[in-house]
Amino acid sequence: MSHSDRLLLFGATGDLARRMLLPSLCALHADELLDPALEIVGTARSDLDDAGFRNMAREALEQYLPADRRGSMATFLNRLSYQTLDASTPEGFGDLARKVGTPQHGLAIFLSTAPSLFEPTIRGLAASGLAGEEVRIGLEKPLGTDLESSRVINDAVAEAFPEDRIFRIDHYLGKETVQNLLALRFANLLFEPLWNANHIDHVQITVAETVGLESRVGYYDDSGALRDMVQNHMLQLLALVAMEPPVSYDATAVRDEKVKVLRSLRPVASGETVTGQYRAGAIGGQAVPGYDEELGKDSATETFVAIKAHIDNWRWQGVPFYLRTGKRLPERTTEIIVHFRSVPHSIFAGKGAKTQPNKLVIGIQPRENITLSLMAKVPGLDRGGIRLRPVPLDIAMDDAFAGPQKRIAYERLLLDLIEGDQTLFVRRDEVEAQWQWIDAIRAGWEEQDLEPKTYTAGSWGPSAAIALAERDGVTWHE
Ligand code: BG6
Repeated sequence: MSHSDRLLLFGATGDLARRMLLPSLCALHADELLDPALEIVGTARSDLDDAGFRNMAREALEQYLPADRRGSMATFLNRLSYQTLDASTPEGFGDLARKVGTPQHGLAIFLSTAPSLFEPTIRGLAASGLAGEEVRIGLEKPLGTDLESSRVINDAVAEAFPEDRIFRIDHYLGKETVQNLLALRFANLLFEPLWNANHIDHVQITVAETVGLESRVGYYDDSGALRDMVQNHMLQLLALVAMEPPVSYDATAVRDEKVKVLRSLRPVASGETVTGQYRAGAIGGQAVPGYDEELGKDSATETFVAIKAHIDNWRWQGVPFYLRTGKRLPERTTEIIVHFRSVPHSIFAGKGAKTQPNKLVIGIQPRENITLSLMAKVPGLDRGGIRLRPVPLDIAMDDAFAGPQKRIAYERLLLDLIEGDQTLFVRRDEVEAQWQWIDAIRAGWEEQDLEPKTYTAGSWGPSAAIALAERDGVTWHE
């Protein structure tokens, strides 16, 4: 299948479209990475005409895309047109199909709508001839709220589109540093021989955010941190860290390896998760309200979760993966920390020196860096004994690659959707393995009537999360 020359955006007036999709497309356009023939049709319930949509898009670009990336915005806006549609009823799809017209090479559809609209939208697309062989479809989360509902959505999509034309988005896979995990692991000889239970003590994955509920009251309170962040982004990070080397960098090989990891996740035992909900506090010196105040009512939804996960396979037996994510934490940071084991025998012990295990810190955001801590001798004549200290071998990606521009994750994903490369999209079996593990955690919480513990906004979550790691002698990296 060739590159699509038409892109149809559902949810075109929504938050994601304004903050991410339109800015990404405009930036790609400015860099001449979009086919000159590509036309972009937006659709949503709002009653707009082409000019109204272009105005909305212009405002969004001015708000969300840095000025130096907005080059040739006017010619970008010329690519846009709009069709009003109530996707919950079949009527409007004929007009939509007429608006889309007949692309010469193919149509890419991006669905960023409420989950309740997935099924009617797919039916409408199929009935109006917008699901033919030259059509591929991108699906934005949330794709269901549990395994069962995600299967219903996946089944509905599968009625009209085969798996090789379905592009499930996890925007973390569009992040440069996430892709760099594969380069770090598989383009270097150094790490792979050590990347297993013989040499690694444990792994930590932290995705910390400073934002609170933002304006997503309805969605977030029904979702919670486990389903909003762990089910998708964190499990994808875990899979990339833990997977076997794929035979090549292509969609089948990479996803085959990820799904094996996801299927090897051991059901989480009770006592191996901690949930929390933030209360009023301060972040960066700014007072912020508690979750219940933002929401305007009491709620049992977790805004923080920490999990001790295990992967039951040969490579990772006995190596815990500590995961934690939360809103209103002290800083925005996503990082992966690989703690190696101690040296088997310290020749320095008799000289009073202590060795510490090596640690690899992979910073995903906001700092993109890789730091390997190595032990070194503190300079001196050592009359009072030898002293050793960890020193960082620090690679800041910004310095190493000063030239290339930082891109929005969706730039990469939209381009891959238009060009038909599925490597960075999530396959159905992955999503289902993810849900299966998550559903079992939620079932455990329900069985135990687990209520989230409170934590002060601006702290690193409830103290029980610290205890979860510390009882194994592990300290969260901060
Ligand atoms: C989204 C979640 O998928 O990811 C949000 O729904 C979260 O709650 C966001 O804030 C985080 O993405 P990023 O790219 O800012 O780390």
